Amino acid sequence: MRVEVGLLGESVGRLAEVGASPVGGGTRLALGGAARAGRDLVRGWMEAAGLRVRVDDFGNMVGRRDGAEEGPAVLLGSHCDSVRRGGRFDGALGVLGALEVVRALNDHGVTTRRPLEVVNWTNEEGVRFEPAMMCSGAVSGRFAKDYVYGRTDRDGRRFADELRRIGYLGREADRPAPPAAYLELHVEQGPVLEAAGLPVGVVEGIVGITWLEATVEGRADHAGPSPMRLRRDALAAAARLVSGVEELAHRLTDAVATVGRLAVEPNVINTIPGKVVMSVDLRHPSPEGLETLVAGLEKLVWEVEARTKVHIALDRFWTSEPTSFDPGTLDAVRAACEGLGLPFGRLWSGAGHDAKYLQDVCPSAMIFVRSAGGLSHCEEEYSTPEDVEAGANVLLHAAVRLAGTV
Ligand code: GLV
Ligand code: MN
Ligand code: MN
Repeated sequence: MRVEVGLLGESVGRLAEVGASPVGGGTRLALGGAARAGRDLVRGWMEAAGLRVRVDDFGNMVGRRDGAEEGPAVLLGSHCDSVRRGGRFDGALGVLGALEVVRALNDHGVTTRRPLEVVNWTNEEGVRFEPAMMCSGAVSGRFAKDYVYGRTDRDGRRFADELRRIGYLGREADRPAPPAAYLELHVEQGPVLEAAGLPVGVVEGIVGITWLEATVEGRADHAGPSPMRLRRDALAAAARLVSGVEELAHRLTDAVATVGRLAVEPNVINTIPGKVVMSVDLRHPSPEGLETLVAGLEKLVWEVEARTKVHIALDRFWTSEPTSFDPGTLDAVRAACEGLGLPFGRLWSGAGHDAKYLQDVCPSAMIFVRSAGGLSHCEEEYSTPEDVEAGANVLLHAAVRLAGTV
């Protein structure tokens, strides 16, 4: 039994047309118009593959294929929201790869012992509504419903209102029940597999991530008559913070640190910036490493405050602890690679994935597909059809091992 890349490539391509940019990638921010159109497409494909589709109170979409037995399903999936100007594979591959698994089982008339479910998680990226992996986190008990519903985007629109607006507010009773196992196929988004010359990887865990917001308060004033010594320039201070954050990561092995969003007020040419709000994303494979980065950032804030006349408030609003996947589920993925005669790597993920929160409630694992140039969260993200096919077949055979057949 095999997944052929043709159909999978076609559905990835068609989903990518929704919110597409001329350069190959596109934008499907969670609960926006393009995300809704993408959901409608995926729902249609799920139904055409014979899945019974339901939508839960976070907008998570689940398609069920019965097994010979009742009871917990083997859950396969990922997300179809994207970052701004993202690639076509991040997330989509895991949902559409899972759909292809169902089509292959249908084509071969295979009945699995356990039910199979395909899931499209809402708001994995956390770009429009922070934090990331929000709705797998909600279903896993990590985030309260009120918290999720009350999250707002940069225009002040509430998650709950947007979910209702796009017609994907479902029922609490339709949340995915704790699965027997969870598998997520994803592009690597990093350089490890390419450097090793390997098409696929068995993902043994996900690094720790913490997100903070720094608010730098200075004083807006005229850019001409205000002498340098009297200024409280929030952006000049924020610039020190941005370079300091980069330094923090250079000083600690395996650390990465990023300032990815910055809002400057009033953001005009001839006014000294009075306020800057910026994000800080810190990551490390160990909990101690993550805390070292946070402590370094706090010290940096004191130093910048001492050297300038601004005030800086730090809000650490999300932490996703380093997580190892389940050994038994990893065994199933390795056995699938071996059965297919595919050379595979073993690695940790530097990106967050819904599998992190699923591991809280059930045995979970991930499969990576080699990323060309290691690029992702940009429009140049690319994986070859051969590698995509290899990854989807690992997903198929690992799923069959976990679900069993009759
Ligand atoms: C999610 O894609 C993350 O790692 O930020
Ligand atoms: Mn992703
Ligand atoms: Mn992503």
